[in-house]
Amino acid sequence: MSAVLCNLPAWRRLQEHRQSLEHVTLRQLFQEDPHRAGHFSAEACGIYLDYSKHLLRRETLNLLFDLAHSRDLEARRDAMFAGEKINHTEGRAAFHAALRAPRGMVMRTGGVDVVPEVHQVLEHMARFTQSIHEQSWRGATGQPIRQIVNIGIGGSYLGPEMAWKALRAYRHTDVHLHFVANVDGATLSDVTANLDPAETLFIISSKTFTTLETMTNAHAARHWITSALGEDAVSRHFVAVSTNAEAVKAFGMDTEHMFGFRDWVGGRYSMDSAIGLSTMLGVGVQHFQEMLAGFHAMDMHFQNAPLEQNLPVLLGLMSIWYNNFWGAQTQAILPYAYDLARFPAYLQQLQMESNGKSVDEAGQLLSVDSGPIIWGEPGTDGQHSFYQLIHQGTRLIPCDFIGFCHPLSASAEPHELLMANLIAQAEALAFGKTAEELRAEGVSEAQVPFRTFAGNRPSSVLLVDALSPHSLGTLVALYEHSVFTQGLIWGIDSFDQWGVELGKVLAQRIVSDMQGKTQHPHDGSTSTLLERYLRRRGH
Ligand code: F6P
Repeated sequence: MSAVLCNLPAWRRLQEHRQSLEHVTLRQLFQEDPHRAGHFSAEACGIYLDYSKHLLRRETLNLLFDLAHSRDLEARRDAMFAGEKINHTEGRAAFHAALRAPRGMVMRTGGVDVVPEVHQVLEHMARFTQSIHEQSWRGATGQPIRQIVNIGIGGSYLGPEMAWKALRAYRHTDVHLHFVANVDGATLSDVTANLDPAETLFIISSKTFTTLETMTNAHAARHWITSALGEDAVSRHFVAVSTNAEAVKAFGMDTEHMFGFRDWVGGRYSMDSAIGLSTMLGVGVQHFQEMLAGFHAMDMHFQNAPLEQNLPVLLGLMSIWYNNFWGAQTQAILPYAYDLARFPAYLQQLQMESNGKSVDEAGQLLSVDSGPIIWGEPGTDGQHSFYQLIHQGTRLIPCDFIGFCHPLSASAEPHELLMANLIAQAEALAFGKTAEELRAEGVSEAQVPFRTFAGNRPSSVLLVDALSPHSLGTLVALYEHSVFTQGLIWGIDSFDQWGVELGKVLAQRIVSDMQGKTQHPHDGSTSTLLERYLRRRGH
């Protein structure tokens, strides 16, 4: 399919068009069109997107839309919302949009309207959340639950942790969330060090309930609870979020306290499913519902807005533009909000697990690059670290700046400084500083090469009113659909993740070798590492 992609007239026209922009500068583009900021911006669901500081003209967008049309964007988008099995390699729908559908909306997959079931689970989560907040659910010794530890990894962790941090201003005052993902025992012992088992609840979040890291941590947590409170305490201190009722039962948990979801919810698309139980406990039922409403608003926008005003389509196509036509390898996510500190990490899984593929849906090797490397840190920290390379390095790194008009803290002054920095960074990247400007400022000739900023470094600015549960939902859904848009241009399955399997299998074999149960043959490097490790451990 990728060969076809390269040969598509729309693809070829984009390649030719790219050549025509080789020497065009952003200064020039802004001079040509004094209203460029207005012409290259869009607004929906409370998000204002300024994409005027991109290396593109109207013609570029039209060609990108042609490409999208030639890849049947609208039909494929509609297939996703219609619950079709668009995750071909796993034979599943990718129906996360149904998780945030309002009650009464009909969303069918496999002929079944799943919205009533989604709302049953939400009600179950809400009842449980209320029982913790009202303290009718108590620990085995009668103490109220104040500490909640989510044990899960990947999609069963990154979203809930990101949301807990992002919604700091909306937290319920009586409970505190903690997260254990890594199988490194240091994580669990660090988290439990200052916790009292009597007031701690563990949520074991795992779609499959087989993930090595999660199950190892879950058993260690079980031991921590039962050593302090006895075996009977398990049912008061553990609940599960999973699709695997059998495994939950085998762990010793009551399936009445299991919160389910279906196989059409991919791990990295699950923070708004029952996987969000910790989020609901952390911020309350009302805020969780507001977050779902934000997701849904963006779903509707993606489904209905014309491509020219469609935010996920615009973001997705611009990623394609730089990734495939400018050779950009990476994309930086730069939230100017302390509370969004984990948003880049969340997007890393969302984008890189979804679009880190090298074959198309037909199993043919791609001949073009697929998903870019996603990374980032909140501003302004990054400015004193890696921004140097973005400004003056040799690589082109498109950036997404995310900022909020209203601060959540009382003091406005630091917020003004924060936002001034965001706006200044986008300006500096785009327009740089020329040698002439430096000379006019009296900079010595010897210094000019070092202090010149070439500019032409593209960025999007996403300006949102305030960080709230609703706006968080819109932002996450915006990127979900942007990832989908990119994946369908490349013709890949954005909803499988076979690339994580091999490492899992090999780790199991090596554990068995370490325990002396097996002696699998390995390459020279692997055997040497294994032998050295075992020797140093005194085996
Ligand atoms: O990292 C691979 C992966 O399968 C992710 O897609 C998923 O989010 C994560 O593992 C955790 O899986 P589970 O929820 O089944 O424990």
